This record gives sequence, C-alpha cells and structure tokens, in this order.
Amino acid sequence: MKAGNATLSGYGTTIFEAMSALAREHTAVNLGQGFPDDRGRLDLRRAAADYVIDGHNQYPPMMGLAALRQAVAAHNRRFYGLDVDWQTEVLVTSGATEALLDGFLGLLEAGDEVVLFEPVYDTYVPVIRPRDELAAAFSPRTKLVVLNSPMNPAGKVFSRDELAFLAELIARHDAFAICDEVYEHLVFGDARHIPLMTLPGMRDRTLRIGSAGKTFSITGWKVGYITAQPHMLRPITKAHQFVTFTTPPNLQHAVAVGLGLDDAYFQGLGPALARSRDRLLAGLAALGVPVLTCDGTYFVVLDVSRWLRPDEDDIAFCRRLVIDAGLVLIPMSAFYETAPPRHLVRACFCKDDATIDAALQRLAAWAARQPA
Ligand SMILES: Cc1ncc(COP(=O)(O)O)c(C=O)c1O
Repeated sequence: MKAGNATLSGYGTTIFEAMSALAREHTAVNLGQGFPDDRGRLDLRRAAADYVIDGHNQYPPMMGLAALRQAVAAHNRRFYGLDVDWQTEVLVTSGATEALLDGFLGLLEAGDEVVLFEPVYDTYVPVIRPRDELAAAFSPRTKLVVLNSPMNPAGKVFSRDELAFLAELIARHDAFAICDEVYEHLVFGDARHIPLMTLPGMRDRTLRIGSAGKTFSITGWKVGYITAQPHMLRPITKAHQFVTFTTPPNLQHAVAVGLGLDDAYFQGLGPALARSRDRLLAGLAALGVPVLTCDGTYFVVLDVSRWLRPDEDDIAFCRRLVIDAGLVLIPMSAFYETAPPRHLVRACFCKDDATIDAALQRLAAWAARQPA
C-alpha cells in the first residue's frame, strides 16, 4: 500500500498530547498544556449560546462576520493607534493556528527562506541570539520572519529597541513578518506589548495575529484574527478559503462582543495573571528552583539541573516527574530544532490557586525524596 505524506508521517505526537496522556494515566496535576482553569466569562458564553439558539447556524461570510471584523479593527485602533480598514484588512480564522498556516501558505513559495526564533512555539521552530547572529540568519532568499511576542515558551516581551533592529533587517531584505501576538494582553509589570506593525515601515510588511482563546480565556473556541494590508491579506485569504473557509458564527459573534468590552477588562488581564505567576514563583523560590525572567504569556521556564540524573535529559526528567511526583511540566527541548538545552522545563501558571498549590505540594513532596 502507498504511504501517507512522508514529512508529516515523520512527526510524532506533540509533546503536549503525549504529556497530557501520561497525566491522565497518572492522575497528575497538569501545568503542561496552556489552558486556563477558568470557565470563561458568562456574558460571552451566553452570547455564543443565544446566537445558536436564535438560529445563526449556516456558513458565515468567508472573511468573517462583519461585526467581528469591525471589532478587530476597532481593537487595533484602541490599543495600538492602528488605522485598519475592516473590509480589506481583517480576516477571521479558526484560531491563531489556522492564521499561521494561512500566512505560510499565502506568502511562501518553494525555495523561500524563513527566519525563526528559538525556542519556538511548536507550530513553527535563548531567546534573541546576539544581534550579529540574527543579522546573519537573513539572506537574499529570506521572505519571511516569524515573531512571537509575548513569546511562548520563554515569557519574553520584545522591547522597542529589539523590534527596531528586527524591522531594519526586514526592510533591508525586503521581507515580510508574521507576528503571532496571541498573548498581546498578557504582559506583567512594566512590560508593554508593542506590535511590530506599529514601527516605522512595518505597516505594509507585517501580518498581526490575535486569538480570542488567550484574550478571553476560552482556548477551546479557536477563533483567531489576522490584520494585514490587502496585498498580504489577499493571498492569505485564498489559503483560508481552502483550509477552513470559515469559523463557527456564534463564536465569532461572542468574540465581537468580547473585543468590545471596556478598557478595564483588558487592563485587568495582566495583573490577574501576574498574581498566579507570583504564587507559582514564590513556591518555586521556597524550593530553591531557579527560573528565567517572565514578563508575559502563560508560562515560566524552570532550571531543573540539580534534579537531573546523570545522562537524563529534560524529556526523561518530565516523564519521571509525572510518574513519581504526579506533576506535568513540558521539556523545553520540544521548542528547539537544533542544540536544545537539556536542563529547562516549562510550567504553565494560568491556573486556579488550588491547582498551583497542588502542583507545588507535589513538587515539594517529591523534592524531599530526592538525593541531596
Ligand atoms: C504562541 C502561540 N501561538 C498560537 C497559539 C494557538 O492559538 P489558537 O488556540 O488561537 O489556535 C498558541 C497556543 O498556545 C500559542 O502559544
């Protein structure tokens, strides 16, 4: 019998799925996959339910409901001062995941080169290498840069200065940027999210992706939105037309309601999540676990060197932790194509206090049983 696609067949199950399956088997506390314990806002859940009951259950427009596209344009204006034409510059997708795929399909051709930052979220490949190394990654064939800021898994929020350096490289090499900004509102303390699109010369080279999943704590809904000028959006829309064509209308309707919430909602997201981060960090500090700086996202990176057995890597460590401690963390090597670190793991803190406390208790009990 002929085989399926060789490239795709070569990939294993994602680490998130594998660890979640192991978690179920060992009834472990799951700080692996990034989804909140939160049930989502009642007003949005109600809006989605009512829209179905009211009978809006047929194909919505391919570009997305007008109300949602208008809401995305208004959101761009409200938070970033971007003037966006909702009719020609906004596309609704089935999650940021589809938006990324549409972006790659719509912009790339065989032979084009793409610059990625490691560690990368697994849909594409520390942080910000030295600038000369970044510059050297560009070539005349570079068509696209993929930037995820705030960055999963590193918890890094790119500064204006770093973005300006990148913008100069993009302009010099006549490239495009796909900016995965799904954590745009999940930043902490003094950190500020700055869309690359707002930098000089970047408006017509940048595709900006947002996700309702992260902004409204409803990761299962898979509603994403792309903002880009028509010359970029047109081919991407062609990809979307073949990939999903559309996204459930009730969810689009409810997300439009969500994007219209007042400033206080959006401004409250970072501080609320920072509280959970700090709860986890305090517990880790008490156990003497070093962590990397975390200015945004759902995630913090832990250095587990002192617990690694000789020859044990982060993957084996995480498996051992599920089985022996009943706690799921994600090995950071999953986010690298080349030369992965072996002593770092990712923990998700977008959880209830009770989940975070249970995770810390399990880790503490397990740590007490480890050789000194
Ligand atoms: C950086 C990043 N991009 C995209 C996604 C996927 O977003 P969505 O659920 O909207 O497809 C995630 C989900 O964890 C993510 O962390």
